[in-house]
Amino acid sequence: MSLFNKVDELRSEFKQALASSPALSDLERMKQKYLGRKGVLNDLFKKIVEVEAHRRGEFGSLINQLKLDIHDLIEERINDHRSDTLSISAVDVTLPGVEYERGTLHPIESTLRDFKQIFHRLGFAVAEGPEIETQWRNFDALNFPPEHPARDMQDTFFLENDSVLRTHTSPVQVRLMLEEKPPIRSIMPGRVYRNEAIDAGHYCLFHQVEGLYVDKHVTMGELKATLELFCREYFGENVKLRFRPSFFPFTEPSSEMDVSCFLCGGKGCRVCKQTGWLEIGGCGMVDPNVFKAVNIDSEAYTGYAFGMGIERIAMMKYGITDIRLLFENDVRFLKQF
Ligand code: DAH
Repeated sequence: MSLFNKVDELRSEFKQALASSPALSDLERMKQKYLGRKGVLNDLFKKIVEVEAHRRGEFGSLINQLKLDIHDLIEERINDHRSDTLSISAVDVTLPGVEYERGTLHPIESTLRDFKQIFHRLGFAVAEGPEIETQWRNFDALNFPPEHPARDMQDTFFLENDSVLRTHTSPVQVRLMLEEKPPIRSIMPGRVYRNEAIDAGHYCLFHQVEGLYVDKHVTMGELKATLELFCREYFGENVKLRFRPSFFPFTEPSSEMDVSCFLCGGKGCRVCKQTGWLEIGGCGMVDPNVFKAVNIDSEAYTGYAFGMGIERIAMMKYGITDIRLLFENDVRFLKQF
């Protein structure tokens, strides 16, 4: 057989082998067999000396062409194999989808958002202040006398340089009145700290929403009406509100506010401790001494203020019996909201 025929024979032998759907490993072996350094095509090329001199060029390019063809065909098949295995292992469309877990709002955050939304509709802006405050803004400007028990180490976390972790959101009132001229109508949500023994009802930090309205001729009647509107929006149409006389250094007169227990409707139950009422916060008319501290003329202006504890209200609303659950961030608890 002439060497030229040998080239043709190798071509058809290769095509036959390729037609038998070789596996990836077979293809690698074929590559070695035909194209390897000691492969059949190189062997044949070495026989070029046996070809008549004037046909050697022709013979050489015939072998080169076969080499290129074999190379391309094998690579093509190898790529087919790769994309097959890729598409099989990467996407199995029969598998059930991966369900992504969606986060939920923390009950404190959703309570705060509800508050903001309702007070927004009543014309209140939102203001915030820092959690580290001067003793002056946290106590003195709010008319706390120097010997007031709230300043006690038992209640207050004292810091360096006359600072404290704010024990209530009322110092934000002081900031607002120093920064802005009346009319001022804002709520001030935020975190507060108390150095208390921790139990199911008490924690070393919690949240309050403060409210302040200062203008000419602001009355206690407006304070009552605003809080009543708020409570009806938040707790429901049938809620009753009760104001009990009380004392705060920064308001005069002062009162505490209770809502009828929405669990038992006022009949008395475990949550309201059989009283039918739940205490939600304090309120009153801004004391003239506070106006004096922030340079507002108390002859020209009056104002009301209120402060509510968020945790208590959220706990009532969601039926949470231990305040610590709100701070432990156990997902088994948080997932329920
Ligand atoms: N700051 C008070 C507290 O932490 C709550 C409070 C009572 C705020 C009466 C007020 C108010 O603005 O008028 O206990």
